[in-house]
Amino acid sequence: MATMQMSVRPEDLSQIPHGGERIPGPGIMVIFGASGDLTKRKLLPALFHLEQVGLLPKQFAIVGVARRPLGDEFAADMRAGIVEFGDVDTSDPKLDHFVGQISYFPLRFDDPAGYASLNVELDRIATEKGIGPDRLFYLATAPEYFASIIENLGAQNMAQPEHGRVGVVIEKPFGHDLDSARELNHQVNAVFNEDQVFRIDHYLGKETVQNILVFRFANGIFEPIWNRNYIDHVQITAAETLGVEGRGPFYEKAGALRDVVQNHVMELLSFVTMEPPSSFEAESVRREKVKVWRAIPSVPILNAVRGQYGPGVVEGQKVVGYRDEERVNPESGTETYAAVRLQIENWRWAGVPFYLRAGKRMKKRATEITIQFKQPPLLIFNRLQTSGPCHEIEPNLLTIRIQPNEGIALRFGAKVPTTPEMAVCPVNMDFDYAAAFGKSSANGYERLLLDAMLGDQTLFSHRDGVETTWALYTPILEAWAAKNPEVFPNYFAGTWGPECSDRLLERGRHVWRNNLGGKA
Ligand code: BG6
Repeated sequence: MATMQMSVRPEDLSQIPHGGERIPGPGIMVIFGASGDLTKRKLLPALFHLEQVGLLPKQFAIVGVARRPLGDEFAADMRAGIVEFGDVDTSDPKLDHFVGQISYFPLRFDDPAGYASLNVELDRIATEKGIGPDRLFYLATAPEYFASIIENLGAQNMAQPEHGRVGVVIEKPFGHDLDSARELNHQVNAVFNEDQVFRIDHYLGKETVQNILVFRFANGIFEPIWNRNYIDHVQITAAETLGVEGRGPFYEKAGALRDVVQNHVMELLSFVTMEPPSSFEAESVRREKVKVWRAIPSVPILNAVRGQYGPGVVEGQKVVGYRDEERVNPESGTETYAAVRLQIENWRWAGVPFYLRAGKRMKKRATEITIQFKQPPLLIFNRLQTSGPCHEIEPNLLTIRIQPNEGIALRFGAKVPTTPEMAVCPVNMDFDYAAAFGKSSANGYERLLLDAMLGDQTLFSHRDGVETTWALYTPILEAWAAKNPEVFPNYFAGTWGPECSDRLLERGRHVWRNNLGGKA
């Protein structure tokens, strides 16, 4: 397929802000659940990336908190994690200094006395390093500990101290249905004001996700056609080749709809469909997101399908089926694939179908948004081509590749040269992130951790947003829980999911676009 490469001029690159004015003030980051994978694989590498580009304050400390009795080996383990998962050279001159700021404090999350000691320890570190009273508590634990940690922080007056700024970052899952999300919001807001709460969805830290807003609202040419008059339908795919990676017990209770669709995919949907906010500030952006989510009518159960992978071949490797994964029920009814068809009932989108899907052990790893435009009202060139490489005139497609091969492609028809008739073939204009800006080792957490330290909530979920998306999906989850699927597993690992998912689109005369992940 023909491809035109777009490039960025060097003088454009010099315009990229380096964020010198965005360095947070001195503070301590306290990570609860620090012995888990997230801290080592994502959080510490991201913090070190910030250190590398000079975006961490000089007076800074990281205190890992977990139940295990660990000592200095914690910092050593984090160092190894930074090197391995952060793509960092062991000889990096900043590494030793950074690791020297890490310490560990063992704590049982339900032990009030432990929090009093933790508070004393934080004060001691702050005094020793001249840090001051600012604290950011990061809850990277299993969700069942959230309430207890929050309550204890409140009881020890660590959430609302007399001086300083204190925030709390809460990892997903934020509840497992509407009632539990409401209850958790209630517990959180009994201790922290909403402006102290940072509900994290790491998708919002991805550059390509933020770029959706830039693409739409910093360019004049797309917005006039960004509506029901020009757009036929939208597909959002979050496909992974990974399976459950040893997280069987967690995944058994989650499933694809809870794990990825209710949060990550809905965030993508909101960025694609929201009205232009009046500014890029937390209140304006979050208000527009909630507005568009609230415009989605409840989804009939027929418009939601689920799947579970059986054994198969993924990227050339034989893999077991979900039911044979470690610590998974051999008769499990948990879905590893979910797809829904939604409508958005507002003036911009009425009548436009939105198809969302997420799955594990799919054919390719690709998170993409495809916007299919309507065809011209009259096709003056032959619909069916008799010569040339293409047989039918295709509609225009705009593809936003969130990952991998991050970029944006616009597909349109071009005349095939030297054919006697006006043969039309699709070609791509392709913007490739890595080619334009260089490859980034950022994992998405850099931006979010920095924003949380700065107190900027723009890229974090508000309680209303979380409750709105749970309200949409809870009835589907309940219906699925009430009736075990008869035909699981219903797709082979290494494929594009179950057949019933294709039928979801057939009703709208659409097909899933499965040539994903490439440079179009
Ligand atoms: C997490 C899910 O939130 O997102 C995982 O719990 C999933 O199951 C992951 O694999 C996907 O994130 P990414 O950044 O790899 O697309």
